[in-house]
Amino acid sequence: MPAPLKDTDFINHPVFIRGKVRDVYDLGENLLIVATDRISAFDVVFNELIPEKGVVLNSLAAFWFDLTRQIVANHMISVDPRQYPRGFDRFADSLSGRSMLVKKINMLPVECIVRGYLEGSALKAYRETGLVSGIPLPAGLVQADRLPEPIFTPSTKAESGHDVNISYEAFSALVGADRAAEVRRKSLELYRFAADFTESRGIILADTKFEFGLLDEELMLADEIFTPDSSRFWEKADYQPGRAQKSFDKQYLREWLETLDWDKSPPPPKLPPDVIAQTGAKYKEAYTLLTGKRLA
Ligand SMILES: Nc1ncnc2c1ncn2[C@@H]1O[C@H](COP(=O)(O)OP(=O)(O)OP(=O)(O)O)[C@@H](O)[C@H]1O
Ligand SMILES: [Mg+2]
Repeated sequence: MPAPLKDTDFINHPVFIRGKVRDVYDLGENLLIVATDRISAFDVVFNELIPEKGVVLNSLAAFWFDLTRQIVANHMISVDPRQYPRGFDRFADSLSGRSMLVKKINMLPVECIVRGYLEGSALKAYRETGLVSGIPLPAGLVQADRLPEPIFTPSTKAESGHDVNISYEAFSALVGADRAAEVRRKSLELYRFAADFTESRGIILADTKFEFGLLDEELMLADEIFTPDSSRFWEKADYQPGRAQKSFDKQYLREWLETLDWDKSPPPPKLPPDVIAQTGAKYKEAYTLLTGKRLA
């Protein structure tokens, strides 16, 4: 088992961005994305690590980038540290399995969300207006209901706080009509492909977020895809509309947090060993269920 990784301060390169979970380095034309073992809930990052979580996230993204290449091009170059630029080989032990060299591209200023089920901000909008992203939905739907067909619900990337849902028209005004149509078509195609795939393995892909960019005018999928951090995964055996579903990966963490008197702002509570162990096991289970493989 690789050593748990909390941060990547040993990498002596300009930082592109440090997210809650991933550290991204700027390599000029390329980026190096490193998935640490940090975990967050309610936007707060905990001090404890979930060993191998970063390996699961990175390996899942790599698995899906390979599988969806025939639908749309993507930014992935390699997950093999031996193929990284010179100087990175000495970090191979720490980076192996949990990092991806990608092409740096011009990101579209939007998050491309596809929903097959009614949850989260879509459920809220539906309850208030009957519409989601301007799309009318049938009356009488309940929480976590399956939608008649998957819908494309873009949002803008807010600099801070939560992203703002926008209509297709607003999205189209931001990226251009032709590009908007292409991105929506590809997003729906990607979702349908992955949802069918996960469903056959006992997992519901309730919704998911893509980030696209352009490289010399070619549309490319970037960031991460179909990971628990960018998607809602539910266990099919447990699925029951009309209530909140258990998150496949964070169910133990969230359930334990709900037993506390914690206001969901920093500092975070200290995670007990059993929550860490059960959460880690869930991530590994997700990887094995989806890919049919065990972590090396
Ligand atoms: N190939 C790429 N080229 C350029 N930028 C990219 C590429 N892939 C991903 N990005 C950007 O890199 C950033 C990755 O940040 P990351 O997701 O780790 O943190 P975050 O979005 O700030 O916070 P969070 O941890 O909540 O996700 C995002 O802004 C994403 O749009
Ligand atoms: Mg992000």
